[in-house]
Amino acid sequence: MRKKIVAGNWKMNKTPTEAIALAEMLKPKMSTDNATVVFCVPYVDLVPVSEVIKGTDILLGAENLHFEDKGAYTGEISAPMLKDIGVKCVVIGHSERREYFAETDETVNKKVLKALEYELTPIMCCGESLSEREDGITIEKIRIQIKKGLKGLSSEQAKQVVIAYEPIWAIGTGKVATTEQAQEVCHAIRVVLGELFGDETAQEMSILYGGSVSAGNAAELFKMEDIDGGLVGGASLKEDFEVIVKA
Ligand code: PGA
Repeated sequence: MRKKIVAGNWKMNKTPTEAIALAEMLKPKMSTDNATVVFCVPYVDLVPVSEVIKGTDILLGAENLHFEDKGAYTGEISAPMLKDIGVKCVVIGHSERREYFAETDETVNKKVLKALEYELTPIMCCGESLSEREDGITIEKIRIQIKKGLKGLSSEQAKQVVIAYEPIWAIGTGKVATTEQAQEVCHAIRVVLGELFGDETAQEMSILYGGSVSAGNAAELFKMEDIDGGLVGGASLKEDFEVIVKA
C-alpha cells in the first residue's frame, strides 16, 4: 500500500512566534489513521515547531536545502544541518524556487541525491505553466522534469522519493485543476516512474497533487487512483487543514 501524505507548505509565512501558535492550534487536529502529516516550515521555524510536535506523528519538513554538505555558500542550509535538528522531509524544486531562485532540473537532481544521502525524504515538485498547458505540452514537460530530477537514482532510492505535481497556474490562484486533469498527469508521472525504475517501484511511490487544495476539493482529488495526497500551501495555514488531512 502506498503511503498517503498530506504536507503543508507554509512558504515564507509565520515568524517563529506565530509558527508556534499555528502548530499548537493544528496539533490536536492532525490525528489520522491512514495518512502521514508533514509540516514544511521556514528554516527559522523548524526548531520551535519541532518542540511543539514532539511526541506526535507529525513529521517536520523543510522547504529547501543546499546540494553540498558544507562550505562557502553564504545564506544556505545543508542536509546535515536539517538532519541534526530532526527534519524528516524536504520540499525540492518548488515552482517558486525554480522561478524566483533560478533552480533548474540539474540543481533539483543534486538536491534530491543529497537529501537521500542524509535519509531525508525529498518531496520533489514538478508542474507545467499555463502556456505549456495551452500548448498541449504538459505531459512532455512533466516527463522531462521527472527524468532529469531523478537522474542517477536506483529503484531503492526512488522508493524514498515523494513526487508533488503542482500545475503552476493552480498555485495560490484558487484555480484548482479538475480531478481528471490532476489524475491524468499523476498517472503519466507513474508511467514515467515505471519506465525509469520498474512498475513495482512506481506503484510504491506516493504522488501528491498541489495547487489550491482546499477543504472543499481535497476529498474529491484524493479519491483519484494516482493521487496519494496533497502538498498544500494557503490552506495549511488555517484550521481548514484539518478537513484536508481527514480527507
Ligand atoms: P497553494 O500552494 O495550496 O496555496 O496553491 C500549493 C504549493 O505551492 O505548494
